[in-house]
Amino acid sequence: MTGIIIETKNLSKVYNGKIKAVSDLNLEIKEGEIYGLAGPNGAGKTTTINMLITRISPSGGTATVGGFDIAKNSLAVRKLIGVVPQDFTADEDLTGRENLVMVSQFYDVPKAKAHETIMALLRLVDLEEAADRLVRTYSGGMRKRLELIIGLVHEPRILFLDEPTLGLDVQTRMQMWNYVKEIQGRLNVTIILTSHYLEEIDELAARVSIIDHGKVLITGTPSELKASLKGDIITLTLVDQKSTDAMKTVPDVIDVADAGTNTVRIKVANADDYLPKIINFISQHGLSTVRLTVQKPSLDEVFLEYTGRSIREEEGGADRMKMAMNMRRVRQ
Ligand SMILES: Nc1ncnc2c1ncn2[C@@H]1O[C@H](COP(=O)(O)OP(=O)(O)OP(=O)(O)O)[C@@H](O)[C@H]1O
Ligand SMILES: [Mg+2]
Repeated sequence: MTGIIIETKNLSKVYNGKIKAVSDLNLEIKEGEIYGLAGPNGAGKTTTINMLITRISPSGGTATVGGFDIAKNSLAVRKLIGVVPQDFTADEDLTGRENLVMVSQFYDVPKAKAHETIMALLRLVDLEEAADRLVRTYSGGMRKRLELIIGLVHEPRILFLDEPTLGLDVQTRMQMWNYVKEIQGRLNVTIILTSHYLEEIDELAARVSIIDHGKVLITGTPSELKASLKGDIITLTLVDQKSTDAMKTVPDVIDVADAGTNTVRIKVANADDYLPKIINFISQHGLSTVRLTVQKPSLDEVFLEYTGRSIREEEGGADRMKMAMNMRRVRQ
């Protein structure tokens, strides 16, 4: 199909003959988009990526990346892709720039071209000043930024980002989001992003598949997934209790309830469609409002709806522990 850069058909992976990490995964990723794979620890995100980047072979099903079959033409696939793995890969005893040069040599990028690309990438993620410092002196956020551009030195068409902000604090994560957007916009690469931070997927991904236990539960744009819950909340504060009581007779709602002083909470399927009705109702009944707010469900609520549990319940300190383990592995 045109415009589809990655396609999987019933892609599956079973480890050791028993652990079904990925089961019958069907994905269609469009050229140029940021596609999110969201799911909790152990959902099968990294396993999916590892198959697509030809690091491990599938147990079943097929996939094409840039038109090439991952099983039959892994070399062609590897030339098209850049990978930023979940674990750190940079050598701590080299500088940031030395790491980038090393990777460019690995990909046989001509020297002058590599120099130019590396300068531009360092600038893109604000690492120019730190470029000639040893990586071991970098902060967690700086290391992640370096990892991000290590995946781009050979100018791939497709970039795989596995948990790009794992273990980072909220502020540093938000900075990373801007860098990822910048990269997608300026370099026009297709990005496949995994994360178990649903707000990250919401912020970055044009489309997302929520996966759990190796299966896709639902695919769509973040707005489509949220709209599928049919649970937007409109909160209205009116001038007095009489007006508030009148408001409770507004038709075609899912639910309406008191929510504090002179305030009602109205649940509707889609607030965008429903707001004109509310505004009409208010003017027909001669009511006056003090405040009106609309709240749409978050992707966390979408996850809860489709899996029956909260992604948060499982995380706890897991991220930080993982980050610490990654760091330790790099140091060994
Ligand atoms: N090399 C392996 N050998 C055996 N089992 C594995 C291996 N790698 C992953 N698994 C198992 O496969 C399942 C999926 O793991 P995977 O790493 O793909 O999940 P993930 O979604 O990336 O999770 P996380 O958010 O923790 O990174 C888990 O049950 C995991 O324990
Ligand atoms: Mg993973």
